[in-house]
Amino acid sequence: MMEDLRIQSVLRGEKITIRVNGQPVVAYEGESVHAALLAAGHRVFRQSRNGAGARGIFCGMGVCYECLVTINGVPNRRACMCPVEDGMEVVIHGQ
Ligand code: FES
Repeated sequence: MMEDLRIQSVLRGEKITIRVNGQPVVAYEGESVHAALLAAGHRVFRQSRNGAGARGIFCGMGVCYECLVTINGVPNRRACMCPVEDGMEVVIHGQ
């Protein structure tokens, strides 16, 4: 398991678990999928369709579509716009 990169002094919601590419990842209620993935050390979310390389979080506010992941079987969800839910299944395609 990767080191938790969150600022420890910040108050958070309840601790929950999501699964990322089949592996358990700690998240907190109120976080976006994007925040949980970054805190777990994930930086690459997908590969460019035109061979330009790895893509990951850019805007963090739903505009750039660089953070697309599959959530609970639904492809092309923006990780920065989706709140985590306990038991959520996230698939990152770019690794
Ligand atoms: S990071 Fe830009 S849409 Fe998610």
